[in-house]
Amino acid sequence: MAIKKVLGLIGSEISYTLSPLMHNTAAEALRLNYIYNVFEVNKPDDLSAAIEGIRALNITGVNVTIPYKERTVKYLDSLSAEASEVQAVNTILNQDGTLIGYNTDIFGFAEPLKAFKSELEKEQVAVLGSGGAARAVIQALKIEFKPSSITIVARNESKADALKDDFKRRTKSLKLKTLNIADAETVEKLRDCKLIINATPVGSAKLSASKEDLLPAEKLWTKDHIAYDLVYNPLQTPFLKGAQDAGAKTISGLEMLLFQGAKSFELWTGKAMPIDLVRKTLQDALTCEEKTD
Ligand SMILES: NC(=O)c1ccc[n+]([C@@H]2O[C@H](COP(=O)([O-])OP(=O)(O)OC[C@H]3O[C@@H](n4cnc5c(N)ncnc54)[C@H](OP(=O)(O)O)[C@@H]3O)[C@@H](O)[C@H]2O)c1
Repeated sequence: MAIKKVLGLIGSEISYTLSPLMHNTAAEALRLNYIYNVFEVNKPDDLSAAIEGIRALNITGVNVTIPYKERTVKYLDSLSAEASEVQAVNTILNQDGTLIGYNTDIFGFAEPLKAFKSELEKEQVAVLGSGGAARAVIQALKIEFKPSSITIVARNESKADALKDDFKRRTKSLKLKTLNIADAETVEKLRDCKLIINATPVGSAKLSASKEDLLPAEKLWTKDHIAYDLVYNPLQTPFLKGAQDAGAKTISGLEMLLFQGAKSFELWTGKAMPIDLVRKTLQDALTCEEKTD
């Protein structure tokens, strides 16, 4: 039997990840000779050696996740146009020893939102969080959805301002604002935003404060909102539950996970991921996990 080509995920404290299940299910269904592993790099100082290891061990490609998406950039040979624009990488392809960085989070975020495209044009949008995922979200909104403004809502004002300034430097016409999540008036100001995205880990089953919501749901949501949570475990997060209870439309982070993964899979294998089969497998795994927690 031929030796399997190796794929994997580089990140810190990532034992919870669904990426191996996603990629191994797809490879098995398509009878492709790949195996996807977890490569935990818990010491940031080990990152450069880990990335060099991709070349040394002839690994076909990896995903990169928290907290390394931004600092990986400097260790690569080249970047796709999107990765270069946002200076963050979540996928590396090893092409005959040349390491190329991509950002499939931008595509992964945009794909499930396309069904709402006509509702979003010229509307205000808010992004909660100012980290790596918020960066991919703002880029996707800018390219695909052309909202009238994007408000970054964060607990760290200087990080939010730095993110805003970075985008403004590259796209002067982009209307970006910032709000502090702790300010009492913030929730009122967000009521006018058509789409609100949670790009923080709040609500994740892996956090002890998972039952707490970022903002008071009863003051935030109306039936006219669209809520998009990047957190996918649990499937029904407090953020999405609050929106759903008010009659708003919701998008689960599982959809972004699937589409960013499908794009990475295609870059490595040249094949389309069987999305419906993989979605069902991940939904079953998450439901089973919730029952046993
Ligand atoms: N579904 C998907 O495919 C997908 C893809 C990418 C990311 N994600 C998820 O998106 C989330 C964010 O990822 P990331 O890469 O952007 O992480 P990150 O770079 O660590 O950024 C996290 C952001 O959330 C903020 N934050 C954390 N806890 C908070 C709290 N209690 N209240 C207010 N803000 C808080 C952080 O603020 P500070 O800067 O002040 O710490 C930061 O702005 C994670 O849960 C990740 O798993 C999902």
